[in-house]
Amino acid sequence: MVKRNLPHGNAVDTFAFIIHPIDPKRDVSRKFPLLGRILTGRQIDFFSTFFPPIYISEITGITSDATGKEVRGLFIACPYTPRRMLELPERTVYRKIIQTGHLAEKLGAKILGLGAFTSVVGDAGVTIAKTLDIPVTTGDAYTISIAVESLREAARLMDISLKDASAAVVGATGSIGKVCAELLAEEVAELWLIGRSQEKLEELRTRLQGPGRAGLKISTDMAALSHCQLVLTVTSAIHSIVQPEYLQPGSVICDVARPRDVSAMVAAARDDILVIDGGMVDVPGPVDFHFNFGFPSGKAYACMAETITLALDGRFEDYTLGKEITRQHVDEITALATKHGFRLSGFRSFEHEVTAEQIDIVRQRARSKHMKLSGSTQNRYGLNQ
Ligand SMILES: NC(=O)c1ccc[n+]([C@@H]2O[C@H](COP(=O)([O-])OP(=O)(O)OC[C@H]3O[C@@H](n4cnc5c(N)ncnc54)[C@H](OP(=O)(O)O)[C@@H]3O)[C@@H](O)[C@H]2O)c1
Repeated sequence: MVKRNLPHGNAVDTFAFIIHPIDPKRDVSRKFPLLGRILTGRQIDFFSTFFPPIYISEITGITSDATGKEVRGLFIACPYTPRRMLELPERTVYRKIIQTGHLAEKLGAKILGLGAFTSVVGDAGVTIAKTLDIPVTTGDAYTISIAVESLREAARLMDISLKDASAAVVGATGSIGKVCAELLAEEVAELWLIGRSQEKLEELRTRLQGPGRAGLKISTDMAALSHCQLVLTVTSAIHSIVQPEYLQPGSVICDVARPRDVSAMVAAARDDILVIDGGMVDVPGPVDFHFNFGFPSGKAYACMAETITLALDGRFEDYTLGKEITRQHVDEITALATKHGFRLSGFRSFEHEVTAEQIDIVRQRARSKHMKLSGSTQNRYGLNQ
């Protein structure tokens, strides 16, 4: 649907992307070093209720590989943290995100991307899109595509054969998790669907099973991860839920969630596991975000890339909205993003680049652990099968 009152007169098409603090002290310090230093995380959380949305920076240099078209971007911040978004009434959170959207409209944006938790709240962008004049996308369709591609590539680097592998999706009943599970069910031997609700998991298993698909197992117990070589985790939990004790030596964990699902303890305690951040892509053109959002230069989250792709393609229409994302949507945005020059980027883990040497070390450590563990404790948990 093309909306009313689109801003006119921009020499260059402009998109806006909403960011918000995830780790309150670290993220507030990136824009306001003094506030970040003197306030505690809890104080920032509390005061964020009263902060207005703010303009963060202009994004320049993004240029389509296919058409040479350049677009301009705006980072604008919704002040709420994920914890605040869960604590406050839904309509209060909508109101603040809509206010942030109005700021984007005022600054000349022709499309708006909802970053991180602003895309999770309530009906995943539907109410926000209905209220704003500019079109809106959550970016979740391209996030799904890049998350699964990251897992495939990491499996290749770790010598894990996808078609023989046992994999898991944690948060499998969520909007991103469901489609990731659907894609992986066509590629792996066994797939664990892990979530909080037995009923929703059973429903999903019924929907996904079929000839040529992976053997599907369900569990509400994270201990099921001990069966899996490949894990894609994408819940909206605000605390880490993947702990080191569940994980197999040599396994790959792709963490798409923001805030992260994987505990920092995994990186600290397990040098035999490859943990990667899901969802990082290379951006076409000499992009400058004029703001440090935690990535090296030239790289963005896949959800940002979806918003940028739509702007580059002149598709100023509501795109990925709501909790039911379709495969067709994922395929379409993947083709468009690839056409304009977005690519899966190298891997990062807990804010650091993952090098080929590190992957080699993980493989060696995993091999020696496997040798020590052989013949031991693989099926010690009582799991739903
Ligand atoms: N990296 C990126 O580029 C990118 C882009 C977009 C989104 N994201 C992130 O992806 C995550 C998921 O987004 P979504 O849109 O799929 O959210 P969603 O539709 O709300 O789904 C979240 C899932 O997480 C589960 N969950 C919530 N709290 C949990 C907990 N404490 N323990 C275990 N499971 C829990 C929910 O279970 P129930 O079904 O039982 O409620 C639900 O299945 C969010 O962290 C979001 O910020 C990342």
